[in-house]
Amino acid sequence: MSPPTKNEKITPLISQQQISARVAELATQINRDYAGRDVTLLATLSGSSIFHADLARAITQYQPSKTLADDEQKRAASGAFFATEEVSVLRVGINVHLDFMKVSSYGSGTKSTGVVEMTFPPSLPIEGRHIIIVEDIIDTGHTAACLAEYFKNKNAASYQFCTFLNKPARREVPNIECKYIGFDVDDVFVVGYGLDYDQRYRNLPYVAELEFS
Ligand code: IMP
Ligand code: MG
Repeated sequence: MSPPTKNEKITPLISQQQISARVAELATQINRDYAGRDVTLLATLSGSSIFHADLARAITQYQPSKTLADDEQKRAASGAFFATEEVSVLRVGINVHLDFMKVSSYGSGTKSTGVVEMTFPPSLPIEGRHIIIVEDIIDTGHTAACLAEYFKNKNAASYQFCTFLNKPARREVPNIECKYIGFDVDDVFVVGYGLDYDQRYRNLPYVAELEFS
């Protein structure tokens, strides 16, 4: 086992319950925006692997046999009140494709190098497809800027960022457009729920601040 080089202190910031509630909200937004479409959820490894898996499972699966009449029947039976179009849009669902790519911008420390490299490209075709780039955190914005350029050149039908965390105070690249954001965090170093320090802490089920002494 590699021993920590410094004293590392972990303070919980975002609980498991908060995360799952927010993931469900993001999935509802995505259900609405992409109803009836094919969408590729493209994870940037390794940081967004856990968010990617949870988000994918929170999105409603497209069911071609489902009709508005089915929804109407269910709605009447449950006695719940929803606007008709709300019921149909949310239940139409999405055909989700899962893919992965690896980009590296950090060494083993807590400061970005600003140099972004795609070390493992996506394997599914991009041209003509709707892509949601699933990120762990947008920090300086260098990675997102590089990815935006990549997807523009590959002629995706559309691409949007969905980031679990956003650290606006640290932005070095202005005007990064991110449609789906889990949580804004202050300028602190965070670990857990996929985010690491030197490859450790990714498996924490919650998000914590990491401090050194
Ligand atoms: P960028 O600075 O926006 O390019 O962020 C690139 C990458 O830095 C992210 O995908 C994370 O892997 C990593 N990173 C940035 N801030 C943190 C943090 O607070 N904890 C863990 N990793 C981080
Ligand atoms: Mg990292």
